[in-house]
Formats: sequence, structure tokens, C-alpha cells
Amino acid sequence: MKSYIEENQDRFIAELIEWLKIPSVSTDASKKQDVQNAAEFVKNKLLEAGVDKAEVCPTAGHPIVYAEKIVNPALPTVLVYGHYDVQPADPYELWDSPPFEPVIKKTELHPQGAIFARGSCDDKGQVYMHVKALEMMNKFNQIPCNLKFMIEGEEECGSDNLEPFVKANKDRLKADVILISDTGIIANDIPSVETGLRGLCYLEVEVTGPNRDLHSGVYGGAVANPINTLCQMIASLKDEKGCITIPGFYDKVVILSTEERAEMAKTPFSLDAYKKDLDIDDVFGEEGFSTIERTSIRPTLDVNGIWGGYTQPGAKTVLPSKAYAKISMRLVPNQHPDEINALFEKHFKAIAPKSVKVEVRFHHGGFPYVTPTDSLEFKAASMALEESFGKKPVPTRGGGSIPIVALFEKELGVKSVLMGFGLDSDAIHSPNEHFGVFNFLKGIETIPLFYKHYTNLMAQQL
Ligand code: BES
Ligand code: MN
Ligand code: MN
Repeated sequence: MKSYIEENQDRFIAELIEWLKIPSVSTDASKKQDVQNAAEFVKNKLLEAGVDKAEVCPTAGHPIVYAEKIVNPALPTVLVYGHYDVQPADPYELWDSPPFEPVIKKTELHPQGAIFARGSCDDKGQVYMHVKALEMMNKFNQIPCNLKFMIEGEEECGSDNLEPFVKANKDRLKADVILISDTGIIANDIPSVETGLRGLCYLEVEVTGPNRDLHSGVYGGAVANPINTLCQMIASLKDEKGCITIPGFYDKVVILSTEERAEMAKTPFSLDAYKKDLDIDDVFGEEGFSTIERTSIRPTLDVNGIWGGYTQPGAKTVLPSKAYAKISMRLVPNQHPDEINALFEKHFKAIAPKSVKVEVRFHHGGFPYVTPTDSLEFKAASMALEESFGKKPVPTRGGGSIPIVALFEKELGVKSVLMGFGLDSDAIHSPNEHFGVFNFLKGIETIPLFYKHYTNLMAQQL
């Protein structure tokens, strides 16, 4: 079927580019119509690709696209999950080309070219691989199993309305496994399958000093500046060894065995290349753990944004009344997001000096997830990648979060397999996000192989 991809690749890319032009930024209320349009777009493309039915299902927030192709109820069913919403594109000025005007450019890691646009890799480009894989299988009448598609529009802002949708549609979503392409591979010549995602706690803190902004000469030195105080409080959340100081934070963290860690240490990784790519002279993280471990099996805490006071051009002498920060924590098994939120709030209030008041507001969160590596679906993904890349894939634990994956297991009793095709260097959530043409086409080639191997393995099991 490879030649079908070769013959049609220009059209596949052109269609994806059309979709990428729609700025489906889910967190931005002013983009509501664009988000809706992006949903309609993929619904129509799924219909053209050959699903029996497709629907844009309204929710209290952005819609969920549901589609299915039932070839034979006796065959296994794979539910494909992905998202058509994207992160905000700012800061715009750091993009070399406008985020919603896709262009193809060659890069060192993508000599065949990469599509530069917000959402190209995360996750429209990866969802579109599934649409085109379906088109191709349908064309050749080679759909080995039943397929269901659930493409949501709120992944990047917490998937608030997916849980009620899943709970209300358990029958419709019935499947044997969930296939997700929203992660990455190690390199284009080192295929890999992700074996886990970290959980997440995302919150916002507000520190209030005096009841109004003050003249920093008249009052400065005698009244706590909430920005200074917030910085001190934040700085104290990690010690010099990179450990998080919130009491109880690590209590439930699953510790890997020496064997498991030795296995992880075999993952191909170059610290020099890593530092070079990021233009840093050194890495920083929890003492006693490797960079790979720090970004996968260990939890962490990061400030995502901090503001307050005067930030416009020029100078204004002010002792501000308020300071704010957005803080996220990445969780690992068996940390519970509600418990970690509570520990954070308690600690953050405890370390606040009497000179300020502190408020903590919770945004979204999610549980960590680890996929079994001895399952049929993991085997099928490995076989599919081995067939398309000509190389056995490496299992890798990922550091990102797809909070809904744990929920699928809880509500639907179905496990997920993470077969993504992005590269860490594709700059998801950053300016100049891109997705390799090679990766896009490789995904289209690999996905049908997953269905083939999965269906065969399921049949053998009976
Ligand atoms: N696709 C990413 C998650 C991801 C990226 C997993 C790379 C593994 C490797 C997803 O769209 C994402 O960005 N998730 C958010 C969480 C969400 C609640 C905003 C994240 O990880 O920050
Ligand atoms: Mn994603
Ligand atoms: Mn994302």
C-alpha cells in the first residue's frame, strides 16, 4: 500500500494544511467558531475517508467528533482518540512564519521537510494520519477490524467535558483497545512506543500584600512586596538538590527497581545532543536521577508564568498589591492529583509570611498512566513499527500528560496504546511547532499495520 501513500502524499499534506489554517485554540473563547469549524472539517474528512457515520457532538464546551466504521461486529474494535484543538500560538513574534499559515521547510532533523504550524504535531497532524490511513485501507477494502474515532476539542485546556461524554456514551465507545497518536518517537531512525504519561496538577496562586498599589519610595522597605514574597516562596519549593520540599509530596511515588532503572538506562540518549539542542551548558534536576528519569518516572514542579506590578515599557515606581503565578506539577504513579493539590495548598499557605495573604485556585489535573508492555496492543504496536521502520522499537516512558487516558481505563475498562510519531524537538506548545513530512507519512503507513497485527494477535488468542 506504500505506493498509494507516495501517489497521494501531496494531497494528504495539502488537506492537513487546510485544517491547520483553522486556529482551533480551545482555551481562547474568541476562537469558539474556529474550534467548531475544525471539528466540522475532520468530521467531513472522516466521512470522505469511509466511516459509516460521523457526528459533531455538542458538549457544554467544545464539541467532540465521533465516527465509526463497523466492518464486522465479531471482529475486535479499536477506538482512536486524538484532539483537534491546539495550544495558543503566542508569543507570535517568535514564530519565523505565522502559526496558522502553514509552510514546509527543511530542518536538520527533517531533511524531507516539516510542516510548520500550530497543531501540526500536537495533534492535528497525528490525527490526520489516522484519517488518511483509513482512506487508504478503505480504498483497498482492507480494514481488518472495527474502528471508532473520538476526536476531542478540549485536550489542551483540561478535557472538562470529555468525562461526562464518556460516561454518557459507554456503549457507543465500547472497544477492545484505545489507540492514541499524541506522543513521540525517539528519532526518525529510532522508533519507540511510549509506555507511560505523567499526571498533572495545574493551579494558580495569588499573593496579596497591601490593599492597593503603593508608591515604592513612600512605602518601600516597610511593607512586604508580594512579588518579592512570591518569588521567595516559589524558590523554596525546590531545594538545592532539585527535590520538591512540599511535605508528603513524594510519599506515594512508586520507586522503580534497580533492574527497571537499568533497563531504562539503555534508552538511546545523548546528554550532549540534548544540551546542544536547548543551548544550555548544564541540565538541572533531582539529584540521583538521570535526565530520562527526571522527565518520566519522577514528579516535578514548574512555574509556567509569573506576573504582577509594572511590565509596560519604561519605569514606574510601584510596590504592587498583588502577584500571581501559574504552577504545574507533573505526577507519577501513585500520586493522586487531588491529594497533591491539597498538599500544595496547605504548604503554600504555611510558608506565607503574615505580611501577605495567599489564595490558591485549581485549574485542571489528571492521573498518571502506565501502559502494560506485555499486552497484545503493545506487541501489535511494536510489530507495526518494526515493519514500517525496519527496526525494533524501544519502549520509553514519556513525560507529558494526556489526563483522559487514565479516565478511559476507569470508565470504559479499556487500556490505551501510545503510538505517536512526533519528535521532542518538534516544538509542540512552542513557537515554530512542526511535524516532519517523513513522520506524517510513516504514521499513515504504520497505523494500518497496527490494525493488522492487533487483529491477528486477538484472533490467535481465541
Ligand atoms: N500531546 C500532549 C502530551 C504529550 C506530549 C505526551 C508529548 C507525551 C509526549 C498533550 O496535548 C498535552 O500537551 N497535554 C498537556 C496536558 C493538558 C491537560 C493541557 C500537557 O502535557 O501539558
Ligand atoms: Mn496532544
Ligand atoms: Mn498539547
